[in-house]
Amino acid sequence: MSDREHEIYDAVGIGLGPSNLSLAIALEELRANGSENEVKSLFLERQPSFGWHRNMLLPSATMQVSFLKDLVTFRNPMSSFSFISYLHASGRLPQFVNNQDFFPTREEFHQYLEWAQARVADRIVYGSEVTSVRLPPDTAPELSDRLRLEVADATGRVDRVVEARNVVISTGLVPSMPEGAERDERVWHSSEFLEKYRRMNPRELRRVAVAGAGQSAAEITRFLYDELPHAQVWAIIPSYGYAIADDTPYANQVFDPGAVDDYYYGTEQTRDAFWRYHRNTNYSVVDGDVIRELYRRSYDDDVRGVRRLRFLNLTRVIGVKRVGAETRVSVEGGPDAEVRELSFDAVVCATGYDAMEPTGLLGDLDRLCLRDEAGRYRVERDYRIMTAPEMRCGIYLQGGTEHTHGLTSSLLSNIAVRSGEIVDSIVARRAGQNAESTILAKVGGDVG
Ligand code: FDA
Ligand code: NAP
Repeated sequence: MSDREHEIYDAVGIGLGPSNLSLAIALEELRANGSENEVKSLFLERQPSFGWHRNMLLPSATMQVSFLKDLVTFRNPMSSFSFISYLHASGRLPQFVNNQDFFPTREEFHQYLEWAQARVADRIVYGSEVTSVRLPPDTAPELSDRLRLEVADATGRVDRVVEARNVVISTGLVPSMPEGAERDERVWHSSEFLEKYRRMNPRELRRVAVAGAGQSAAEITRFLYDELPHAQVWAIIPSYGYAIADDTPYANQVFDPGAVDDYYYGTEQTRDAFWRYHRNTNYSVVDGDVIRELYRRSYDDDVRGVRRLRFLNLTRVIGVKRVGAETRVSVEGGPDAEVRELSFDAVVCATGYDAMEPTGLLGDLDRLCLRDEAGRYRVERDYRIMTAPEMRCGIYLQGGTEHTHGLTSSLLSNIAVRSGEIVDSIVARRAGQNAESTILAKVGGDVG
């Protein structure tokens, strides 16, 4: 640890998914433009190499935003880090245009993200999990312009300490399991789907269940139906049938950069209206194409007189227990709200995610972070957690700000603009702090 002690950065990004990758690029473009305001940065990612929801890279899964909502275009349409630049570099630009589709596959977008991160790789360290963010030991907040980050290697051993004037936390969504269901080798959350599935012998999977009625559940149900022609696939869905994700143009405006201001500066009623009317743009909903493809499979089953795709609708999983190789799933629902136990060879809980939650990382530092009446972080418009006045460092959030900034908090739609706003904020605050120090030094000199 000692050889790298006292590394000091203006900004350290915690987590390197699309959000902080977009930030790394915004900082790189600031530097390349010859700005005097270079921000010395480092990005720490716990995965051994770049990966964006790898366990859900299912064949034919497509993006849920336009390719133009890439890492940069809405901030800087001239950027060389755009999806179009990537297509050009890959020699596929004409073919992509011929395809006439705004929504590339997740596989292709993943390749784009890998291409982009390789171009800023000098400031990314993989296999590095940030385990804590604190003030330096025995230092009062007003006396420190740095935070101290402990970083663990792949074995979990803290092997590095870095100091940062600002941290940008972007550690992503947190998988959520039904109560009474623990993950194991036959009980999977969708976020670990491909990894766990590939460990199984497909012949052993004759009866599988997928809980949930969102995009993850529908995609996994389609995948299992196609990959396991000998198996019954049970979809356990709380709704009557899959509900469609509203991506029509007026509704889609909730993802526009301008909607962030409308949400942030709006009243409680405004914010409530966003959720009441537009939750169905993202949560517990499925792309129309995927719904139709699944229905087609059910119908073809009917024609053939087989029932491989089964539905338990209006039903929720209320518990899962393992008995030998059998996975017993308790469900509650149906028209008579009956509780039943069913046996499966494996169950996938595509039961969604909780919002990013940085409290654990912040430890004691959390007492300097202000919260609202509901116990949620107060967040400035520039995505910085509001802190006690004596705190001089910035703690920025990319994610976990749905309550303050709206629906785009956990999505890709606004990452380019948001990253630009965070860079502007870091640069402006530094300029303010430098000016303050100069005045104080001058006053001190005059007095002396
Ligand atoms: P993301 O979760 O991508 O990255 C967080 C990173 O932080 C991870 O790489 C993680 O390993 C790392 N990390 C966590 N803790 C750490 C620590 N302590 N130290 C170091 N590293 C740490 N949205 C959308 O707008 N369009 C879409 O098409 C999709 N598609 C999609 C598919 C699937 C399967 C899911 C589950 C979600 C989506 N989403 C989406 C929503 C999704 O949240 C979004 O695409 C991005 O992943 C958000 O990027 P972030 O960088 O914020 O988080
Ligand atoms: P989600 O939209 O939150 O859906 C979770 C589903 O699980 C809901 O239908 C929920 O029902 C259900 N559920 C929760 N608890 C349950 C229980 N105990 N029993 C049965 N069902 C239960 O989560 P998601 O599908 O993982 O999607 C999360 C995000 O990832 C979204 O932004 C989505 O667009 C994105 N995504 C994108 C792609 C892609 O780009 N191709 C693929 C997958 C996911 P209730 O609502 O009733 O609780």
